[in-house]
Amino acid sequence: MLHGKKILIGITGSIAAYKIIFLVRLLVKQEAEVKIIMTPAAKEFVAPIVLSTLSKNKVYIDLVEENSWANHVALGRWADVFLIAPLSCNTLAKMANGHCDNLLLAVYLSAKCPVVVAPAMDEDMWHHPATKNNLDRIKKYGNFIIPVDNGELASGLFGEGRMAEPATIITYLIENFFRGTTLKNKKVLITAGPTYEPLDPVRFIGNYSSGKMGFAIAEQAYLQGADVTLISGPSHEQLNYNSIKLIRVTTANKMYEACLKLFKQANITIMSAAIADYQPIEILSNKIKKKHAEWDLKLQKTTDILFQLGKQKTKSQFLVGFALETENEIENAHKKLKNKNADAIVLNSLNDTNAGFGFDTNKITILYKDGTTSKFELKNKKDVAKDIISFITDKIHEK
Ligand code: CTP
Repeated sequence: MLHGKKILIGITGSIAAYKIIFLVRLLVKQEAEVKIIMTPAAKEFVAPIVLSTLSKNKVYIDLVEENSWANHVALGRWADVFLIAPLSCNTLAKMANGHCDNLLLAVYLSAKCPVVVAPAMDEDMWHHPATKNNLDRIKKYGNFIIPVDNGELASGLFGEGRMAEPATIITYLIENFFRGTTLKNKKVLITAGPTYEPLDPVRFIGNYSSGKMGFAIAEQAYLQGADVTLISGPSHEQLNYNSIKLIRVTTANKMYEACLKLFKQANITIMSAAIADYQPIEILSNKIKKKHAEWDLKLQKTTDILFQLGKQKTKSQFLVGFALETENEIENAHKKLKNKNADAIVLNSLNDTNAGFGFDTNKITILYKDGTTSKFELKNKKDVAKDIISFITDKIHEK
């Protein structure tokens, strides 16, 4: 997502400057191009040599170097985003008042790209009315502010004012500036995880699905610009992006209700959840006691959600199902594609090692309604999600 993106980082004098070392590592790992400016005070907190080595670029500090003038206009024009992190109280006040007594401020005042700041200060400074005023002012000037964290501060006190963590900063940059557009204006509905069918107040029938695949698909669709809603059964997975709408359900019935509500508006629906096929006929309100040596549990079929959505599907909608198979994989997946009126089925076989439930990797074959099949290698689930989303995007744009 950050491949080739030009990120200019301005570091000011704050203890949190040490986190920028990790931030630069993460950005470079994600193939972003990074250039760094430091205020003279920032040099007291991190050594420029560490930053120039990690960013693979010279670090800029002074307005005038060895009788030559540092071209602040060029730096501001080079960047896709100018991130000032950590932003100290002092630099904040200067930004709010248009001061220009160092290179960082000169670049800030002449920057044509979006400017994002990640403040870092002690709680009392953070809550001072002057700080609030200054933040309001730079916000009005059109700058973006990454919220501070709550936690242990350099003073040893606990409270608000910690600079956001590097991973949070990267997520913020991606969400606000670097999402793709191939699914822009598309509403995407995704199901994930297992469902749990209760027997009594303490027991349920479930399956081993972790939800990893569905969560990864939701994030990839979102990163391609889609408006995403994820309906998830019980899963420990968390989303990295707050703008994805997450609806948590427990049973197959609840998942069906949630899908029905949202399906009509969805341009693309991807059913990756491992939904229970059967549910207990009776749910007991008290815990079942172990009175007998044997116990017959009576089950009834749940609604086949994909089948129901396939019946309602209009020509402009794209519906994708999953098939988890243990034998006659392709044949069974073809049957599902046809019977459930899906546009595509993502097949994964439990016979492939390291693929499917619980693993971080998966190996898929996508069966399309025109009879073609596309096979993919074993990959981590994030990359599998990319393959699924780009397959769907290609097919939609072919239509
Ligand atoms: N599915 C569904 N509703 C159910 C069961 C499954 O919508 N009650 C969906 C799954 O989300 C998946 C697809 O149907 O997209 C295929 O699920 P799978 O468990 O592989 O197959 P089933 O249809 O349940 O058939 P079987 O278990 O007999 O293989």
